[in-house]
Amino acid sequence: MIGKTFARTAPLAAVALAATLAMAQTAPATLTIHADQPVSSVSPTLYGLMTEEINFSYDGGLYGELVRNRTFRSDWSGVLYWYLVENGNASAKIDSDKDTGPSDALKSSLRIDIAKASAGNEAGVLNVGYWGMPVRPNTEYKGSFFAKAGTGDIGPVTVSLVGDESGKAVATAKVAGVGTEWKQYEFKLKTGTVPASAANHLTITVAHPGTLWLNLVSLFPPTYHDRTNGNRIDLMEKMAAMHPTCLRLPWWNYLEGTQISERLDWKNTIGQLVDRPTHPSPWGYHSTDGMGLLEFLYWCEDLKMNPVLAVYAGYSLAGEHVNPGADLEPYVQDALDELEYVTGSTDTKWGAIRAKNGHPEPFKLTYVEIGNEEWFDHSGSYDERYAQFDKAIKAKYPNLQLIATAPVKTAKPDVVDEHFYVRATQNFHDAHHYDNPSDATTPQKWDSGHFDKADRKGPKIFVGEWATREGSPTPNMGAALGDAAWMTGLERNSDLVVMASYAPLLVNVNPGGMQWETDLIGYDTMKSYGSPAYYAQVMFGSYLGDHTLGSKLEGGGDKLFYSVTSSAARRRVYLKLVNGSTTPQAIDIELSGAKLASSAKLVTLSAHDTQATNSIDHPANIVPVESMLSGVGSRVHHTMPGLAIEVIEFEEQ
Ligand code: AHR
Repeated sequence: MIGKTFARTAPLAAVALAATLAMAQTAPATLTIHADQPVSSVSPTLYGLMTEEINFSYDGGLYGELVRNRTFRSDWSGVLYWYLVENGNASAKIDSDKDTGPSDALKSSLRIDIAKASAGNEAGVLNVGYWGMPVRPNTEYKGSFFAKAGTGDIGPVTVSLVGDESGKAVATAKVAGVGTEWKQYEFKLKTGTVPASAANHLTITVAHPGTLWLNLVSLFPPTYHDRTNGNRIDLMEKMAAMHPTCLRLPWWNYLEGTQISERLDWKNTIGQLVDRPTHPSPWGYHSTDGMGLLEFLYWCEDLKMNPVLAVYAGYSLAGEHVNPGADLEPYVQDALDELEYVTGSTDTKWGAIRAKNGHPEPFKLTYVEIGNEEWFDHSGSYDERYAQFDKAIKAKYPNLQLIATAPVKTAKPDVVDEHFYVRATQNFHDAHHYDNPSDATTPQKWDSGHFDKADRKGPKIFVGEWATREGSPTPNMGAALGDAAWMTGLERNSDLVVMASYAPLLVNVNPGGMQWETDLIGYDTMKSYGSPAYYAQVMFGSYLGDHTLGSKLEGGGDKLFYSVTSSAARRRVYLKLVNGSTTPQAIDIELSGAKLASSAKLVTLSAHDTQATNSIDHPANIVPVESMLSGVGSRVHHTMPGLAIEVIEFEEQ
């Protein structure tokens, strides 16, 4: 019966739909491409990444650490994310102990006084992790803690991953011999054939009365490239798929801190974890600083990205600034030390410290950014502060390219960092932003994070933060279309726009995880997903090219955008098309100056609705779909769907 109804109605519906689509099509377009006419170079570093400690991007995100508040910070409510365990008739109490800790950086600890405990009646503490702890079958977790015991024999310390609902351990290790002096102990937890689940916690217990002090309790799952103190694998893989070429680091508002005293002090983020004091981040939660400067550089190394290093420039978010001149000198020196840490040989003081920290080879560095969004400093001190950094850095490192984050006059920056947080309609209107340079009659104006027009005489542009902000926690298809339209403009002008990075990149979608809406990649404790805007980035980053080509678009709807590049080495022509309208777009592509293979790869990202999106439970609603265009010659007739982003990869014969 159902089949019969379908057989009668389906052809009618199909005819009606075809008729509607035919009527609804926008004016056909003709796109002429001259494959033998390179116009301008495409920056090999155009698409990069930008991150900071926001939305639990590092702690509770990319950084593999599973223990939340591993250094036992406390407030009026007690020690955060840690709870007392008293199995059976055990009896104990816990408290923060400000008088003893394992290092100068970590001067306090958790004190556990166990009055009564025995086998089967253990006492200790549990940690709830970042929205649970991800347990997977047949997986090895590497852990460690710093501990010391009171005078009595505390017996072995038992560490277990425990299911929240079952209360049963899924993996257990015993650490014996805890002495009366602070020392680090290591352990491994190995799961068997258990179900994958986030609903787990970590327990640390003993079966003897006595006193135990703990600090820096750490547990890592397997990490990307198996790095110690490393990163979550799924998130690294998602970033790798974007083919990013640079990483804007470290840490934007996070670099500045709310107060000067809370700025990101890079020297506190290197070396052993026990020597890192941790610090408050401006986004409302505390940072472990487990992802420190060297970890960022490893991240660059792992994804083959160039670091774009930002140095603290003397302005913090609440409006405090350091006066240029003598007051600023220590901060300038800090920046010089940081550059030596990143690039210096092992004969230098800071290069030797980097080697001691595990990386003798200096890192390659081209760009250094002076501060972040310094146009918020209404004191007007940035011009002089920038000049002071410029003079000192260029004197020692004349080849470094310096990036200003607001207009300056006293020195001439090599690059200016521009920021754009907009809606899709703004991007449709502004997709030609960099096609329209300023001239003598229309001088540039700086407006909330960027110049109104580019100046082709320089400096170069780094679009260091940009996003179409529609959709929460992650962007929807409408935002992806706005992004893609914007990116066609970046590509066309990539001789001027040397780098660009979407912001923010990451968001933990668990309740309370997000501080800033519209973030490219979402995740919870177990899983992650890419938004439609993420897939737009994957598509643009995967088919970059090295030159734009001569081209002309005639006809087509108002929301049709394109860029066309070629890769000389790969003998490919890449055409990116964006149709921000809901109706299909017919395009005649006339391609001269190259003999093309008879078929071309077509990658399409589309949806029926701008609100359509991906989510943690529906990660693949909107994903790129690959197909082939056949019968490719010097003229190709192609109709792209409404609300679509496409890349056509033409192969030269
Ligand atoms: O990306 C979020 C924030 O936006 C960054 O920290 C800051 O630089 C900008 O204002």
